Amino acid sequence: MNSAFARCYGLAARTNTLCGALRAGQAMRFHVGLLKECRTMNTGIDRRRFISTAAAGTVIALKPSLVFGTQANSKITLGLIGCGGRGNWIADLFQETGKYQFVACADYFEDRAKASGSRLQVDAQRCYSGLSGYRRLLEQDLDAVVIETPPYFHPEQSMAAVDAGKHVFVAKPIAVDVPGCKTIAAAGRKATQRKLVFLVDFQTRANEFYQEAVRRVHAGDMGPLVLGEAHYPWEGGGRGGPPANNEECLRNWYYVLEISGDFIVEQSIHALDVATWIVDGDPVRAVGAGGRKLRPANSIYDHFAVNYWFPDDVLLSFTSIQSIPGVRDQITCRFFGAEGVIETDYFSGVIIRGRKSYKGGQFDYLYTTGTQANIETFYQSITAGQYANETVPASVRSNLTAIMGREAAYRGTEVTWQDLLQSEVRLTPDLTGLKS
Ligand SMILES: NC(=O)c1ccc[n+]([C@@H]2O[C@H](COP(=O)([O-])OP(=O)(O)OC[C@H]3O[C@@H](n4cnc5c(N)ncnc54)[C@H](O)[C@@H]3O)[C@@H](O)[C@H]2O)c1
Repeated sequence: MNSAFARCYGLAARTNTLCGALRAGQAMRFHVGLLKECRTMNTGIDRRRFISTAAAGTVIALKPSLVFGTQANSKITLGLIGCGGRGNWIADLFQETGKYQFVACADYFEDRAKASGSRLQVDAQRCYSGLSGYRRLLEQDLDAVVIETPPYFHPEQSMAAVDAGKHVFVAKPIAVDVPGCKTIAAAGRKATQRKLVFLVDFQTRANEFYQEAVRRVHAGDMGPLVLGEAHYPWEGGGRGGPPANNEECLRNWYYVLEISGDFIVEQSIHALDVATWIVDGDPVRAVGAGGRKLRPANSIYDHFAVNYWFPDDVLLSFTSIQSIPGVRDQITCRFFGAEGVIETDYFSGVIIRGRKSYKGGQFDYLYTTGTQANIETFYQSITAGQYANETVPASVRSNLTAIMGREAAYRGTEVTWQDLLQSEVRLTPDLTGLKS
């Protein structure tokens, strides 16, 4: 791994994901400082690579028949919902394309909504706060929303956006429980019916080497799948617990099960999404274990080990652990077929070895380039009127798979897919006393 990238990703991971530094309660100033450093380090390569495909900064000729509300030759107008680490970071990526313009912001915290608004040159009147601030944003004349709030809020906010006639670009994970996943599935279908684009931002799915390698696996190049491994060891994540104050839980939500879904859902989903993409099937059943040896008793787990069975007895062995000093960060997935093996790592590359090899490719900065590719796809889908919204069912499947692993580990008993789908259990954080 490129050392600048390693450092930058480490920073990005610790800042843009739910991160050791912030979650461990360090100051927001530190958080933002790291973000700036990371953005500066990224700029050279990423911009060059992106500008060549994205024609950044040019006037975009749009078909007059476009469904989004603005005039031809104008930018797609956006509302940012969630003005935290990733919200601010991704807003810059949208802006850099020259194809989008932010016209509204919403965050629970007024100072955050205003700070992002000021950075993005949004009229102060269009910066909304409180739990229902996003609803006022949705009443505005804008084409699309970028949802970068904690996972618990994604189903409600995504569905409301579709109901308001807005295209949706939403961060993973899509939900923390089964009803939430079903809401997202319904929102995706409704978006298609209403000629709206709905895109879930998984970086791996946007990468050409992942796409080609998985296409070859599905075409049978490795023969029938036998066994897979997915792993996500991470140095970050911190060792905190949920804040006692309900409002603070919205700032430091990672350790709040009801808001993050635990880290198997919030973070490990990157590995499980690749695994379910490769298998292209729903897991039939799972057994698992895990626990807290590093985090306090009222916090989320710090390690998981889950075995999944897919159709045709294809096995998947999954492990994930956080907050171990010195660990080499990895988000890997390796699957063995009768005729070969596919190896993928978010941080380095993709390859197939065997009777029909695929040399794949190496990459750095997937964290950034994958997001940029999704931002471009979002634009192309809106302007070309492509409303198939393929990322939705795929994300629902991997999200349910992560929830299945969490439940298997929590319960210490086998969980079947059939039973899981019937679950009506809703994880509900205590929002008492919060500003509406
Ligand atoms: N690689 C990736 O794809 C990647 C990386 C990082 C984060 N993420 C995802 O992005 C999302 C945001 O993560 P983050 O790291 O930016 O978190 P963050 O805490 O830095 O930002 C979240 C923001 O949402 C605000 N918020 C909380 N509840 C809200 C509500 N009900 N309405 C409006 N605003 C609300 C918070 O005040 C905060 O400003 C999460 O879903 C996370 O999983 C994805």
